[in-house]
Amino acid sequence: MDVPNVKRQFPKVSELAPLLKFTGPTLHRKEQRLANAVTIWDLREIAKKRTPQGPFDYTDGAAESEVTLERARQAFLDLEFRPNILRDVSGANLERQSLGENFKMPVGIAPTGFTRMMQTEGERAGARAAEKYGIPFTLSTLGTTTIEDVVAAAPGGVNWFQLYMWKDRDRSMELVRRAEAAGVKHLMLTVDVPVAGARLRDVRNGLTIPPRLTAKTLVDAIPKPEWWINFLTTPGISFASMSSWNGTVAELLDFMFDPTMTFDDLKWIRNQWKGKLTVKGIQTVDDAKRAAKAGADAILLSNHGGRQLDRAPVPLHLLVDVKRELKGDTEVHLDTGIMHGADILAAIALGADFTYIGRAYLYGLMAGGQQGVERALEILKVQMIRNMKLLGVSSLEELEPSHVKILQTHQGLGKLPN
Ligand SMILES: Cc1cc2nc3c(=O)[nH]c(=O)nc-3n(C[C@H](O)[C@H](O)[C@H](O)COP(=O)(O)O)c2cc1C
Repeated sequence: MDVPNVKRQFPKVSELAPLLKFTGPTLHRKEQRLANAVTIWDLREIAKKRTPQGPFDYTDGAAESEVTLERARQAFLDLEFRPNILRDVSGANLERQSLGENFKMPVGIAPTGFTRMMQTEGERAGARAAEKYGIPFTLSTLGTTTIEDVVAAAPGGVNWFQLYMWKDRDRSMELVRRAEAAGVKHLMLTVDVPVAGARLRDVRNGLTIPPRLTAKTLVDAIPKPEWWINFLTTPGISFASMSSWNGTVAELLDFMFDPTMTFDDLKWIRNQWKGKLTVKGIQTVDDAKRAAKAGADAILLSNHGGRQLDRAPVPLHLLVDVKRELKGDTEVHLDTGIMHGADILAAIALGADFTYIGRAYLYGLMAGGQQGVERALEILKVQMIRNMKLLGVSSLEELEPSHVKILQTHQGLGKLPN
């Protein structure tokens, strides 16, 4: 008879005991929930379960067919890394200098409007998490916390202000002076909103700011009690930079933004503002050159997270050409579609000086306030460190275009992985 490969025996209790590692619940429920999220997509799932459909879709959605956002995310997946092997990668340094400041990671929090509508802690949570992780936080003109309160919440952080140029120039510049008085040293001027993009989810949801209590929202509220309790028991959602608005988001944007703005206005702002200036929303090589010539310290390649022009260029695809044309005189930053630390590394390798996240931060916020934002930043940090080591580099400066090959894309086709 053949000798079996495996010899069986009865389990002995004394041998089983060390294998059993049951412990009682040690973490608070929120901490446990966040700790279970290992990707930004996981945080998005938690966010979706905990946030009413109107605010969730306002964050998650993009303009018209939403293909712009899908393509930007797909572009990161459609690249191939070319790792170096047999390098000493015992350390991984994520530090980056940008616009004269030292940051612990090469990514900042992009400006987002109406942030307290997503989760009541809003901008304070973002600014505090950014302070903790040594990265910049940018407050939007459409923010729901004042610049003074943001600076007070994160006094040791690097807090920036994003400006939308309104039809009323004096009021816009009043905001800039207020930011300056609060200690802000960096202005980000967003130039891709001459009119509001068509965010169809918001239209279909009938989203208003602040959200109205209707029969539909009340039914939707049942499985999301925490959001509603927060909403009803904390100060109302209002704009920090202007008096309240009672209407849809698109109506507000169209009322406020100035479709007559040109490069002359950019030069005018450059003359008014002595601090660092980033121009956000650049989408062609030619406009990058013109913005640099008008005095921008940095240009931010961005299509507003796919929320404005649908079928807009993918920022990652512009990067190499823009970087070559600007010849290192003006910093080149990038956002849109970043959902993974390796996306950030790819952008840096292809020449980005710095990157920003919008939704990745907001999914964290909706999943668990400040702790959720910290979880998002931790996930990105861990992903960056691991992937740097796998790429065979130990500092961002070692990343080069040769580490990344952009493959033939199948843009907008197929479903993004989870
Ligand atoms: C909910 C939401 C609100 C936004 N509000 C603003 C804003 O007020 N000003 C601005 O310049 N960009 C705004 N953006 C665009 C972001 O600054 C950033 O460009 C974009 O989110 C990057 O793409 P990502 O979400 O894929 O990271 C917003 C984006 C989102 C998702």
